[in-house]
Amino acid sequence: MSFFSDVERDLVVAARTPLADGVVALDLVSHNGRDLPVWTPGSHVDVLLAPGVERQYSLCGDLHDRSRWRIAVLREDAGRGGSVRLHDEVVEGQRLRVRGPRNHFAFEVTPGTRYRFLAGGIGITALRAMVATAEAAGADWTLEYAGRSRATMAFVAELTAAHPGRVTVHAADEGARLDVRALLAQPRSDTAVYVCGPTRLIDAVEETLADWPPAALHAERFEAREFGEPVWPDPFEVELALSGTTVVVEPGQSVLDAVAAEGVVVLSSCRVGTCGTCETPVLEGAVEHRDSVLTPAEQAEDVVMMVCVSRAAGPRLVLDL
Ligand code: FES
Repeated sequence: MSFFSDVERDLVVAARTPLADGVVALDLVSHNGRDLPVWTPGSHVDVLLAPGVERQYSLCGDLHDRSRWRIAVLREDAGRGGSVRLHDEVVEGQRLRVRGPRNHFAFEVTPGTRYRFLAGGIGITALRAMVATAEAAGADWTLEYAGRSRATMAFVAELTAAHPGRVTVHAADEGARLDVRALLAQPRSDTAVYVCGPTRLIDAVEETLADWPPAALHAERFEAREFGEPVWPDPFEVELALSGTTVVVEPGQSVLDAVAAEGVVVLSSCRVGTCGTCETPVLEGAVEHRDSVLTPAEQAEDVVMMVCVSRAAGPRLVLDL
């Protein structure tokens, strides 16, 4: 089951807890003590730090504890500044504006399915609730958890202690590297693979699963995919079916910006194709999908597109805007 909520709320930081070197957990509660909305494994929220400064974080706390949401923030000194602000400036008792939750990485246990979870570094945050759900359902699951060292890997002690036969730690400083090709060499129709982590890990899993059934792979990227030049290099028209207007999208301009210039606002957050917030229904036309959210099968349907990065693959699109 997936959730797509665009509701914004001010939440209070109830606790800050160091989880690993460079990783801090923030527990967020409502200001009046009321329960927070339910969420599903794979969900994330947008933390709105300032106008135009938003960051996405997976919910990684207890699914059944409605009193709080937990996010875990990896400090990225070479990043765009959001994680450093959350590490250095946010204190207990402070309010944070939060939007969501949304889920583009949905997980459900299906009887007879084996689950292979692969986490790289902070990618464990998106998988932790899936692991708990698979375990509670009595599913056949394993987790391969890769990182630089155990000291930098959030939840590593907890996971290995609770599930010694199912969790394998691949800490680079112990010489235990994750060999994706060896692990997933044999295509299996009864296995679902869930991966979250750095681009190189997800790319390696995608490559390895090339001969597997397409539905086997479930990936969430924190970093945007790289693309070459657009396949349709010229301006293209976008008809907005609900608004009754047509806008021209110039080369180098996003559909999101072009429609905003006409006064049609599409909610957006990451603006690089990783969060799914700007998902927009497509009524007609071929899309060149340049996002990192939709699966190849979803992209092939051309039913929705991420208008912050995806473009027309021809002269015209009709969107349900
Ligand atoms: S705003 Fe995040 S995918 Fe478009």
